[in-house]
Amino acid sequence: MTFTPRVFSGIKPSGDLHLGNYLGAIRRFVPLQDTHETIYCVVDMHAITVWQDPEDLKRWTYEIAAAYIAAGVDPKKSIIFNQSQVMEHAELGWIFNCVARVGWMSRMTQFKDKAGTNEGGENSEAVSLGLYAYPSLMAADILLYKATAVPVGEDQKQHLELTRDIAKKFNHDYKKQVKALGFKGDFFPVTETLATGPAVRVKSLKDGSKKMSKSDASDLSTIYMMDGADLIAKKIKRATTDADALPSEAAGLAGRLEAENLVGIYASLSNRSVDEVLGEFGGQGWGVFKPALADLAVAKLSPIADEMKRLVADRGELDTILRDGAERARVIAQPIMADVRNIVGFVR
Ligand code: TYM
Repeated sequence: MTFTPRVFSGIKPSGDLHLGNYLGAIRRFVPLQDTHETIYCVVDMHAITVWQDPEDLKRWTYEIAAAYIAAGVDPKKSIIFNQSQVMEHAELGWIFNCVARVGWMSRMTQFKDKAGTNEGGENSEAVSLGLYAYPSLMAADILLYKATAVPVGEDQKQHLELTRDIAKKFNHDYKKQVKALGFKGDFFPVTETLATGPAVRVKSLKDGSKKMSKSDASDLSTIYMMDGADLIAKKIKRATTDADALPSEAAGLAGRLEAENLVGIYASLSNRSVDEVLGEFGGQGWGVFKPALADLAVAKLSPIADEMKRLVADRGELDTILRDGAERARVIAQPIMADVRNIVGFVR
């Protein structure tokens, strides 16, 4: 049996979108539309694994859908929808909860970070059960469509390894039933992680050892997609750097986390390699590089922010897009889910 090469990715509506989400994920969604069948989801069920004010959840759901479209995802070519409109995600997520092992979940570094167990904290008893089981819902998101390629930032790599483990264990445990149903090979495919390029891990502008995230205490550390031109320029100007000039090639950035981050952002925004950027700026100081980066960031991000603002002002239009996307998603998901029920032995 041959599979249509299919891409799935998702973003949680749990905070304002930032430059890391854009460079690490959204921007990379766009060219895949020409080579793959593309499904881009707003994963609202993932967002509620930590408390979300319901009005904020709605606002961020619309904001992410708007960002996809404003960045160049075409709702006619791609399927854009919010996860909770396709209930099969929850159903397959439950089945995967019964395939995945507790030990696998306990090793997830994102859970350990959020539950505070990495710093010797004792918070893990107090977080939601959903937060713990989150990676099996993420596996369900992808495998419900038998997607084979997932564009994400580097922080999601471990979750995608787990997705492969879940697929493998399901294929193995239900081998006989899969064969009996007439499938020649495995039921779920092996998912490839697409996480390459200079911006798969955009760092905080204030601390090059931390990733840029939706919930950073310092406002100056994160460039948000809706930031105005002046604010973007101010944040770049105030970004932490060392005192040295820029090197002439990428190897010279080793150990200079903040410099590496800013050059990586420049390379990604300008569609050039880090070496090309350093070919132009090598030997220059921050007084030259930072204003150039600010100009580039404003030129690339402002039109997207303007379009996002226009789109979120009309929730009716976005509702139509999300509803249509959910219908198209269901057309793919329902037959796969029907096979899964059969394989598992659920009587209909
Ligand atoms: P989320 O919502 O935390 O992040 C959305 C996407 O943005 C990427 N990203 C970054 N990339 C580079 N630098 C950064 N500083 C940065 N911060 C975030 C993330 O890697 C991600 O690609 N579990 C996922 C959502 C999800 C999902 C899925 C993704 C649920 N189901 C199925 C892919 C496929 C998450 O929490 O992403």
